[in-house]
Order: sequence, then C-alpha cells, then structure tokens
Amino acid sequence: MRAVGTAHSGYVISTIDPRLYGSFVEHLGRAVYTGIYEPDHPTADENGMRRDVIDLVREADVPIVRYPGGNFVSAYNWEDGIGPREERPVRLDLAWHSSESNHVGIHEFADWAEAAGTDMMLAVNLGSRGLDSARAFLEYVNHPGGSYWSDLRRKNGREEPWNVKMWCLGNEMDGPWQIGQKTAEEYGRIAFETAKAMRAFDTSIELVVCGSSSPKMPTYPAWEATVLDYTYDSIDYISLHMYFDNHAGNTADYLAQNARLDDYIATIAGVITYTKAKKRSKKDVYISFDEWNVWYHSREADRKVLEGNDGWPHAPALLEDIYNFEDVLQVGCILNTFIRRSDVVKVGCLAQLVNVIAPIMTVPGGPAWRQTTFFPYAYASKYGRGKALNLSLDCPGYSTDFAANVPYLDVSAVETEADGALTFFIVNRHQSEAVDLDLALEGFGERKVIMDKVMEGHDLRAVNGPGAETIAPRDGAGASVVDGRLAAGIAPLSYRMIRLGA
Ligand code: AHR
Repeated sequence: MRAVGTAHSGYVISTIDPRLYGSFVEHLGRAVYTGIYEPDHPTADENGMRRDVIDLVREADVPIVRYPGGNFVSAYNWEDGIGPREERPVRLDLAWHSSESNHVGIHEFADWAEAAGTDMMLAVNLGSRGLDSARAFLEYVNHPGGSYWSDLRRKNGREEPWNVKMWCLGNEMDGPWQIGQKTAEEYGRIAFETAKAMRAFDTSIELVVCGSSSPKMPTYPAWEATVLDYTYDSIDYISLHMYFDNHAGNTADYLAQNARLDDYIATIAGVITYTKAKKRSKKDVYISFDEWNVWYHSREADRKVLEGNDGWPHAPALLEDIYNFEDVLQVGCILNTFIRRSDVVKVGCLAQLVNVIAPIMTVPGGPAWRQTTFFPYAYASKYGRGKALNLSLDCPGYSTDFAANVPYLDVSAVETEADGALTFFIVNRHQSEAVDLDLALEGFGERKVIMDKVMEGHDLRAVNGPGAETIAPRDGAGASVVDGRLAAGIAPLSYRMIRLGA
C-alpha cells in the first residue's frame, strides 16, 4: 500500500502555540500526594517534591500545567492551602470522595512548577463559590503588594507575585456530576461577571470559559453558543474536554476516534465564528482543549472509592490507567489532530500528568516510570513546536460507523523555526500492512534524515511498569530523502517520528 503526497514549506496552517502540549495536575487520587509531593521520598527536594518526577516532567518539556482541578476545584477553598501547614484544615473532597490534607496549596504548587520548568494555568471555583473568591485568589497570586491578599501572600513567604497569565473560569460547569452545576444561562452570567471583575484587576490575563465537557453532552453545542453569547468579548478561550476509550475492544474503531475530535473542534470553531459575526466583534476566541486523554482502563477499579465504600481515604489510587501499546497509537493520532487544528486549538492539556490517567507513574517510596504514552506526548512537545504544515496526502482508508475514509496513515508535519528541522509524526492504523510513504518536499532546500524513531511490533495490550519500560521508541530504519522526496516504509500498527534537517 502506498501514500503519496507533498509537503510544501508555504502551506502553513498556523504557528503552534507551545501551550498546545500542556498538561494537568488535579488534587485527585495520587496526582499530588505521592505523585509530585512525597516529603519522605529519597529524591524529595527541600519542598518535599519528588525530584525524579520533576526530571521526567522536564524530559517531556511540559510548557504549562493546569491546577488545581478539574472537578476538585468546584468545591475547593484556595485559602485552605495557604499559611502554616499544621494549621491547614482537612476537608472532605466531594468530587473524588477523598480527604484533602491541604499540605499542598498554591505556594507549594508554584514552587514545583518553577522547579519543573513549567507555567501555571489556574482554575477558579465557580461551583460552590464565585466572583469574590476568584478576585481574591487573583489578587493573592498576581498583585505585587500593599493590599490585603497580596500582603498575606508576602507574609506567607512569597514576596514577588507569580503573574499567572491563564485563568480558567470554573470547570465542566455543564456536567451533572459537577458541584454547583449550572445551566448555560446561569454559567454564562457568572462567567461574564467574574471575567469583568478579573479584568478590572488586570487586562492582560487570559481567560478560559467552560465549553462542553464532552460532545456527548445533551447540551452540546447549544451550550457553547449560549455561553459565548454572554462572554465573547470578555474571554480569550473556550475550553473543550474529551476522553477516549476502547471498551468495545475494536482497534479499527478506536484508532479512528480522532475523526470525532475533528468534528468536535470544527463544530466549536463554527460556533466561535458565528458568535464573532453576531457580535460584530473584532476579537478572536480560540479553543483551550484543557483535558484530553485515553481514560477507561481504571474505570472498574475506581468504583469502590467513588461510590464511597472506602470512606474518605487520603490520596487513594484513583484513575490509575495503565496504558498499553494501542494507546500509544491513539495518543499519536490525537496529537496529530491538534497539530493540524493548531489554527484554532491554541492550548491543550494532557489530562493528567502524574499517576492519574497520566504518562508518568510513581511507586510511593520507589521509582517514577514512563507509561507507553509518555513517548508520543514528549516527542510532540519537544519536536512539534513551530509551524504546522498542511500536507496533501493521498492515502487509502477505511470506514467505521462514525467516520468515512479514515486514512490508514495519520500524519502531521511541523517545521521548527529554531533549527529549521522538519518533523513528521506518523501513525499507521493498518493492522497488517505496511504503508510506503512517498512525500515530495517542496521549498525546504536540501534535506536529510536526522532522527528516526519508531514504536512498532508490540502486542497491542503490552504495557510498561516500574523498572520495565519495554514499550519505548527505538531507532527506525530505511527512511531516506532522495531527489527531494521522503520515502519511508511505515510498519502496520506503528508510531513513527521522522525528523529532517539540512
Ligand atoms: O481528569 C479527570 C476529570 O475528568 C476531571 O476532574 C474532570 O474535569 C473531568 O471530568
């Protein structure tokens, strides 16, 4: 089977916002406690943060991390996490039926983010609370001093403001599971008023309003139309969330699911355009896809805690999906979709980062390790920055119940400004046949293969574990550039990254 096409340096989709490769840490399960924070761990730094985890976050070059939730934020008092640790209250977290010690709050998380070389994207509670706690939190975090909240921050040990730029106005407010769920009208109003107050403090912050928590929601996509009607000129992004599963055990359908993601993005891009026209606005609003991942392996195991049969445990093992090789291909396809839609999706957050549906796992007191999906995520983050290119590619495909002509090869291409490298991220969805990729390279000058990495030949159900990262990239073979054409044989069910340099 052959896939033939052209990559042209002038066919630019968009300059990718590096925040497309962000992630997410929620007070949920072991994400924070025994995830990023474990004061007794042999690698713990002076703040009790696991250095081995920080090293892996740095390895993946994570540009921004959303915090502190997620569903958790909708009943969270951020003030519980400031001041002397021993005086902080233990609270019952209603979202995840757990106890929250508040040993980690904004100061500890900010120190961790700095150590991990990443920016913070903070969420305010518009579930159980509202405008007042949001404006106080913003003042605490971003005001230099001379006011009640900023001076309290200084008293608590942080002299300089953190100057956090991105703020989420609540989380999944359309969901019946959310503490303080709202109708689109109720949410649109409170989001507008909160945005107004936050902007009165600082016009340069970027605000994210909640879109649908899934395209399966009965209120989708009218939710977005209503919420944007209230907020369009006051916000910068609308958030979307989507999780993927293979409960049905059908690999062909599973690997075609990014067609649904494409529809979701295109639909909300349409709602944005419609609202902009309706309001005669000059302003552009973009999508912050601030939760996405594969999530299904752990659903059964989580039931006991979530139904409350375990009481109120502190940092229980929750949402600990162990990812397999099939999920590598899925994550590769999703990232390709984001790259191809980087004209409208500016921010993305792989949900989540550590232990909770995460690329990084930890053993309490023991090692941190890379899940199978760590690799396509880290490669996209490291090598997928620059200009996304619109490829023309003719590739045979297949159809599913929900998508027609899904090409066997899913490909994205990025030209990096810093070093001029041209990177192709490729997934072959075909279950038995290799695809010969033949791409004419136009407008790039002389090119040769400078890096070729492949993940192939594994059992689809194969997983990694602590001390056994067997599902990992190795060097690919046979890719070449001859007479201005890239040729590479892409193995069935494989993930491949090919980088071309001068
Ligand atoms: O990421 C796990 C959960 O999924 C988040 O808390 C919530 O926002 C979403 O439903």
